[in-house]
Amino acid sequence: MKALILAGGLGTRLRPLTYRMPKPLIPLLGRPLVDHIIDPLPAEVDTVVLAVSYMKDALDAYFSSHDVGRKVVLVNEEAPLGTGGAVKNVAHYINDTFIAFNGDVVCSVDLNDMLHHHREHGGIGTMALWRVDDPSAFGVVGRDSRGRITSFQEKPAKEEAISNSINAGVYIFEKELLDHIPAGVVSLERDVFPKILNKGLHGYEFKGHWIDCGTRENILVAQRTLLDLGGGRISPEMIKEDDAMLTGVNMVQRSHLRGCRIGPHVYIEDDVLISKGAEVSESMVLRGALIEEGAKVQGSIIGPDCVVARGQAVKDQIVART
Ligand code: GTP
Repeated sequence: MKALILAGGLGTRLRPLTYRMPKPLIPLLGRPLVDHIIDPLPAEVDTVVLAVSYMKDALDAYFSSHDVGRKVVLVNEEAPLGTGGAVKNVAHYINDTFIAFNGDVVCSVDLNDMLHHHREHGGIGTMALWRVDDPSAFGVVGRDSRGRITSFQEKPAKEEAISNSINAGVYIFEKELLDHIPAGVVSLERDVFPKILNKGLHGYEFKGHWIDCGTRENILVAQRTLLDLGGGRISPEMIKEDDAMLTGVNMVQRSHLRGCRIGPHVYIEDDVLISKGAEVSESMVLRGALIEEGAKVQGSIIGPDCVVARGQAVKDQIVART
């Protein structure tokens, strides 16, 4: 079976970090976001097809030098074709039922169970659904009593939402879906799904966690969720001196902590130096960054080789080279 990961978006909401790093390669607890999608794929998935466009060379370099346990094929779009166009563009790789994923979703969906559900219910596809209190920022799904999707609403006002179930960006499709995607730039959500409802599109609800890592805030939620679920890890190669303090659950790689306070929910990559009196919480500090004396970093992503100057306060920001 093939799994298709949509990984060609520009990631504009994560700029400036995504000027030099495509979203699927942003490290989440030491591994690129896309690995967190590939790892839990069912055993019957032998090939992962990555629909790429923006910064495809960086993705190519990563998959050429890392074994992720399955065959990985990158299919390029000269210019991004949208989520639907990207599916159409990989048609020659699809010969049967396939799984499709938005490349920025970190979630606990049980794909084996979802496949079982899909095979039991039939139809052209099955969409994973996630329940939220306020669906106003999402694609909302209406269903009949048998779980078949009957309507869609894009980002409705909270009081007008037809349900609290949203499209989680994880799908199982039959090959037949390809016949319903026109050529060119096409959105699955807007242009295709509303037109295939009569072909049987079912909803599959799941519990646990679901995070769309399209924003700084959500990437840090994903980091916190995975840290709380899996526990932290401190590299034995970390150097800690001058009573540097770690509180809560964190992941710290081969870095240097000097008289600072770290935590909770902090990820620190290799070759980072955090200086005396600095405080870092709920943040990601990437390779080679320098946090100078007395600086405070909270709810932020500090990109590779960036410097937070002495005494500076960085709150809820992405700091990265442009
Ligand atoms: P923003 O610019 O911040 O909205 O991010 P994005 O470009 O990634 O868009 P969005 O978050 O809506 O995309 C959801 C998923 O679809 C991401 O995994 C994207 O990589 C992917 N995606 C979006 N547009 C395209 C496209 O045109 N081609 C491909 N191959 N993937 C896409």
